[in-house]
Amino acid sequence: MEWTRETLKQLIEEKLNGSHFIVVSNREPFIHKKTLEGVKCMIPASGVTMALDPVLRASGGTWIAHGSGDADRQVVDEKNKVRVPPEDPKYSLRRIWLNKAEETGYYYGFSNETLWPLCHIVYNKPTFEEADWLHYKAVNEKFAKTIIDEVAGQKAFVFIQDYHLALLPKLLREANPEIKSALFWHIPWPNPEAFRINPWKEEILNGMLGADLLGFHIHYHTDNFLSTVDQTLEVRADRVSSSVVSGGRETLVRPFPISVDFDQIQKDASSPDIPEQIERIKKEYNLTAQFIGIGTDRIDYTKGILERFRAIDKFLEKYPEYLGKFTFLQAGVLSRIHIKKYKELNDEINAVVEQINWKYSSDSWQPIVMLRRHFSPKELIVLYRMADICVVSSLHDGMNLVAKEFVAATDPKKGMLILSRFTGSARELTDAVLINPYASDSFAEKIKTALEMPPEEKEKRNLKMKEMIAESNIYKWAGKIIQALLRLA
Ligand code: G6P
Repeated sequence: MEWTRETLKQLIEEKLNGSHFIVVSNREPFIHKKTLEGVKCMIPASGVTMALDPVLRASGGTWIAHGSGDADRQVVDEKNKVRVPPEDPKYSLRRIWLNKAEETGYYYGFSNETLWPLCHIVYNKPTFEEADWLHYKAVNEKFAKTIIDEVAGQKAFVFIQDYHLALLPKLLREANPEIKSALFWHIPWPNPEAFRINPWKEEILNGMLGADLLGFHIHYHTDNFLSTVDQTLEVRADRVSSSVVSGGRETLVRPFPISVDFDQIQKDASSPDIPEQIERIKKEYNLTAQFIGIGTDRIDYTKGILERFRAIDKFLEKYPEYLGKFTFLQAGVLSRIHIKKYKELNDEINAVVEQINWKYSSDSWQPIVMLRRHFSPKELIVLYRMADICVVSSLHDGMNLVAKEFVAATDPKKGMLILSRFTGSARELTDAVLINPYASDSFAEKIKTALEMPPEEKEKRNLKMKEMIAESNIYKWAGKIIQALLRLA
């Protein structure tokens, strides 16, 4: 079956049978901000919200999330709702308000200083603060209350996103056992040895097992999860049926590799004004080099940005014929900046870029151009079309959608993806140039391989990968999860 926006819409209309469809995440898909020109609506730099937005546009329903913009309260109604997308409303966004202490403990603290480093094995020690944990529990309860209010006693499917809301499935089940829920874990699930240091591991696992369906990107993560449950709880984790029975109810544990809206990206990438936009960007940032590399990430220590720059340094050292001929454009969005590690990483990136540019640049050329501004999805497509190589060098990543977006957008004879083996997407995009980001010498060699790959070879590889993404697109991801939930219902 071919999955499109329409088939997903049909599935939801026909099969959900009047049930309320509710998506829940921490990050909201649209943020309203005060600016000098008045209130502006922005799209955040988050793989999760970018992926889910097309799904909600197709399905309608309600998305419940933390209202984090300073003008968010100005635009909502008495139920804290606003219709989005603003230019062509398709679904409701219901906002939850958090005070500073809640945001500090639940979001910055437990979600991003405990669970994030615990699940991404990148040698950054997680912290375990009781005060953060208590805020995390309280905010999960706050989300649960809002969802129960939204459901208002009707039948409902609740589709929960990510590690911020691990306790939510159990809270919902306790409040209303009729609700069907799925939790999708967008980041890796570590091995049991890594997870066992978490002092609240039982509560987290029990919270998650309140869901009817638990989704991860790849088999490797579902296996790790089942082993963790096996070693932590007194419940039955069945490898054959890939499920866990606890408290008399079964939770299915399945891999669903997330993806992108391939058709939309293709459409945007073939827009006739792209060449003109590329020229505009080249002029704006003085990009005169023959070859352009690009990277686009949140500034996060899991993304391997410093490792990427180290490899570029080695590449230029070893192959000086590329001096003046190759520029790497890094689009980096500041992220979680109240966390010390993120602030330090940002400072270190600045220093390393400065060092490398000082080492190699001439009057008219520099090897790395660091852009700290936000790029809209359409602008990113222009960068992807301009690039000869795109580098995704995560040290550990659940999936990584930049990789899929780039492949979907690139001119098949021109662009080539360099992709870390430690991303979920490397399991599917096996025709990319695969790297170990820690091994900087071979990483540097792979930059050369990708830049010098003959156009026919690039085309062969890109067409294979494009076909895979076209078939396994974001509608299939959502459709398969909803079908699995429907079967359970
Ligand atoms: C990752 C997480 C998402 C998160 C996104 C952006 O992709 O899995 O849940 O939304 O990063 O991070 P932020 O902390 O800004 O929401």
